[in-house]
Amino acid sequence: MNINRPPLGWNSWNTFGGNISEDMILRSADVMVESGLKECGYEYIVIDDCWAMKERDKDGRLVADPVKFPHGMKYVADYIHSKGLKFGMYSCAGYWTCAGYPGSFEYEWIDAKTFAEWGVDFLKYDYCYHTPNVSAETLYRRMGLALANSGRDILFSACSWGSDYTRQWVKSTGAHMWRSTGDIVDSWASIKSLAQSQIVFQEYNGQGSFNDMDMLVVGMNGKGNVGVGGCTFEEYKLHFSLWALLSSPLMIGCDIRNMSDETKKILMNKEVLKINQDPACREPFFVLDRRLKINENRKPDEPFYSNLEKELPIIAKFLDNGDIAIGLFNFTESKAGWGSHFLVDTIGLPITSGKTLELTDLWSGEKIYPLNGVVKIYECDPHSCRLFRAKIIDLK
Ligand code: GLA
Repeated sequence: MNINRPPLGWNSWNTFGGNISEDMILRSADVMVESGLKECGYEYIVIDDCWAMKERDKDGRLVADPVKFPHGMKYVADYIHSKGLKFGMYSCAGYWTCAGYPGSFEYEWIDAKTFAEWGVDFLKYDYCYHTPNVSAETLYRRMGLALANSGRDILFSACSWGSDYTRQWVKSTGAHMWRSTGDIVDSWASIKSLAQSQIVFQEYNGQGSFNDMDMLVVGMNGKGNVGVGGCTFEEYKLHFSLWALLSSPLMIGCDIRNMSDETKKILMNKEVLKINQDPACREPFFVLDRRLKINENRKPDEPFYSNLEKELPIIAKFLDNGDIAIGLFNFTESKAGWGSHFLVDTIGLPITSGKTLELTDLWSGEKIYPLNGVVKIYECDPHSCRLFRAKIIDLK
């Protein structure tokens, strides 16, 4: 099975944690369709941890909790499929899941078969309580192989948080996406630190296995399982823009049954989603700011040249049709800009080409043109960003 775009969907964990039920999942599937999310490309409904009984049955099979899921998982899968959506579930490479339910260690083949029989299309595979006696790569290869032989196409979502050098072996396991971060929570500090931790991983990103920056907190507004504090509209916009630009899978984490208009505006911005779903899936890259003093002694694994690059990064991605996605992010606590420091030349368009850029702001629709080869963007509010699709046009 081949996945050539970052998966889009919804996952129960961020809002509901262990407080999940058949009714909530089925209603969320309804809303996925009715709200227009499906039409925007979101397709997976994923049940995270805490869906199982604490004991396996006499044949060693996982059993869905009959109080939470009275009709069993096949029923849930059939319902989700009847809506034209796909069904995701969760297990773990260890003895137990992170919340203490049975894990798949030494049961990989039984569980893969069970998931296939239930009609599962996506498996998130966690890394808690794993044995020290088997390497991480072997644990993930076990499940990757079992899923590939389960008789059903099941997307394999590895969730070892980037630990044990995940990036170096994860593609070999058959994982279609891999968690390159620790767990997100619904706060600016979390968004900022996850975002800034991702720079060094971009060379591993792309078709075959997408870097998964964790589920979105957009629209949680401080409520739910990881709802600590919440974020402002601008912060959620930055979060969504950055996850989209870095080709992360976009798994919604809020309660989609109660989305505000602001939340919908973010999650359903089709132009931003196009940047995420661009067919070429090129590696995003950092554009050098002219203010930067290049640190020649930077070690290969050191993510940033300087604090400036860390706090006010300019990130670009070449798109399939020749356009360029460009994001400018203000992680600082004050208004900031890139007034005379972002040269078009630095993204690969020299003045000698006779060309320049037409930048369309994907949130406001505003069009911006560089002046003498310099993209002039002033006064970006703290914790906010500008995200553009840049078209190459003739220089008049
Ligand atoms: C880990 C994962 C989370 C979530 C929980 C469930 O912490 O990283 O995304 O799945 O387990 O217990």
